[in-house]
Amino acid sequence: MTTPPTLLIPRKLAPAVLERARDTYNVVLNEDDHVFTRAELIAACQDVDAVLPCHSEHFNADVIAALPQRLKIIANHSVGVDHVDLAAAKARGIVVTNTPDVLSDATAEIAMLCMLGAARRGSEGDRMVREGRWNFWSPAFMVGRQVTGRRFGVLGMGRVGQITADRARGFGMEIHYHNRTRLSPDKEKGAIFHDTVDSLLAVSDVLSLHCPATPDTTGLINGRTIALMPQGAILVNTARGALVDEDALVAALKSGRLFAAGLDVFRTEPGGNPDLAGLDNVFMLPHIGSATFETRDAMGFRALDNLDSFFGGGTPGDRLV
Ligand code: DGY
Repeated sequence: MTTPPTLLIPRKLAPAVLERARDTYNVVLNEDDHVFTRAELIAACQDVDAVLPCHSEHFNADVIAALPQRLKIIANHSVGVDHVDLAAAKARGIVVTNTPDVLSDATAEIAMLCMLGAARRGSEGDRMVREGRWNFWSPAFMVGRQVTGRRFGVLGMGRVGQITADRARGFGMEIHYHNRTRLSPDKEKGAIFHDTVDSLLAVSDVLSLHCPATPDTTGLINGRTIALMPQGAILVNTARGALVDEDALVAALKSGRLFAAGLDVFRTEPGGNPDLAGLDNVFMLPHIGSATFETRDAMGFRALDNLDSFFGGGTPGDRLV
């Protein structure tokens, strides 16, 4: 019998995923599910053939340089891979995979929650009732924005963007988008293509971000670009905090330039941004876009599919480098 590969799983995954992992691999766990420091991550990787990390484990160039020769694959439990230096991994001959598709529905749902929570003042209302401060009602009370008939701008029309657009269609919204390449008509489904980000922002009553965080997209939403958006627009971010200049966002939310924001992701995670947390017109969640039972299982299984294919001598379906 051959020895099974040793697999490091640094975070607590769904029980069914762990059970399947144990069937095939010699699994090394991080029992208390704390976020490894850089030194702990490097140390934990020394005696393993593979790692199945989440976006909380940062494989920067210096971490990758410290990985042992035997570690051959980083099979991410995430679609976003901004926590991995792909060029450094490629240079070391380490395969990197992700988990696309399986979290698109869950993330689109959270984008809708963020949009509606922002438009209809969800945080403010919830806090008022919960804290026993609801002592008044009038037709002029807690009036928000209706999204029906408004323009929904999708920045990044990949898998998540397309499904989010479908959900927004369900609210009677007109879909606009910007993407590196224009979609085919069957995928576009009547959505209006903008060949520049600026052109999309100018028509987005609600702007929903669905592009990866890269050096090119970092700070894409900033003072200049927010000024292009319609007065009283709503920003939804379920992608990555790095896309937004949070100081500029706070200023726009305070001045009323933007009506509200619905945010599932922040520049600092965990924790978020206290300046944003101080504003009533921000609906916030703690990066839970893909956190459903169904999707956690599917993400784990997809990462294991990639590992199985790699150790079976094939090319993982979701290989990035
Ligand atoms: C992803 O898959 O990128 C989500 O943000 C969760 O990590």
